[in-house]
Amino acid sequence: MSVKHFLTLQDLSSDELRNIIQRAIELKNNPELAIAQQKKTLALIFEKSSTRTRLAFEVAMTQLGGATVFLANADSQLGRGEPIEDSARVLSRMVDCVAIRTFEHEKLQHFAEYSTVPIINALTDDYHPCQLLADMQTFHQYRGDIRGKTVAWIGDGNNMCQSYINAADKFDFELRIACPAGFEPKPALIEQFKNRVSLSQDPKSAVREADLVVTDVWASMGQEHEQNQRNTSFADYQVDVELMSQAKPDALFMHCLPVHRGEEVSAEILDAENSVVWDEAENRMHSQKALLETLLSH
Ligand code: CP
Ligand code: NVA
Repeated sequence: MSVKHFLTLQDLSSDELRNIIQRAIELKNNPELAIAQQKKTLALIFEKSSTRTRLAFEVAMTQLGGATVFLANADSQLGRGEPIEDSARVLSRMVDCVAIRTFEHEKLQHFAEYSTVPIINALTDDYHPCQLLADMQTFHQYRGDIRGKTVAWIGDGNNMCQSYINAADKFDFELRIACPAGFEPKPALIEQFKNRVSLSQDPKSAVREADLVVTDVWASMGQEHEQNQRNTSFADYQVDVELMSQAKPDALFMHCLPVHRGEEVSAEILDAENSVVWDEAENRMHSQKALLETLLSH
């Protein structure tokens, strides 16, 4: 049986992804329905900071009756330069699944190539697919199926933006991206999904009549030294009351968190009734539990 990884949303079919979302909703309402994963162990290799992703995996595995082992970069041999393929082979002999948060997406792919257990992308510089499971679950809970809806992505063409491009394809919605020049997502990705995705430097037209407006920090992890310069480049891209007024009156606002209030989003919008950021955060746990059930039962 071939091993199933979750490196991007493209690793699963639309049906598989929709089933995970349905299952996450079911488990949120009835946690006792979860398939126990006793004696299963999930390793967590995190080379960047995390609150939500790590917590969601640890709590989900605890509730499933399994265990997690957290390998901080500073303490593991991988962090000291042990080859990725050797680490992947060794972990495969002891644990049932590995979630990795790292910088280069290629490093994750390299690990997965040598792993005989499922590898989950817990965020790379290029993609953050676990967050999209929670976002899609959250949209579904508030507004039903996202198929045919319009989503506006405002700000950096980063790992979250690129995962939204994949989601537009998998969940069948229109994605309008507004990014300043020089901060666009990979051109090949836009080209590949151009039937679902458009790109501009005009936040207002991107948001017009949208059902969902999403943004993220202007400087991601590893880009902190560019913060000041980015604040200047992104100054016209704040999601504020004026920009949000262009969207549908019942449009939802999402942000993966952590957030910089007063930068990418005004405090007023973050705290507004249509902001569902705390549900998004909670749904990380339910959707990652549903993902673990799927990958560990495969
Ligand atoms: N949204 C998200 O991935 O949060 P963490 O960095 O806290 O895991
Ligand atoms: N784009 C952000 C997401 C954090 C969850 C980052 O990579 O830092």
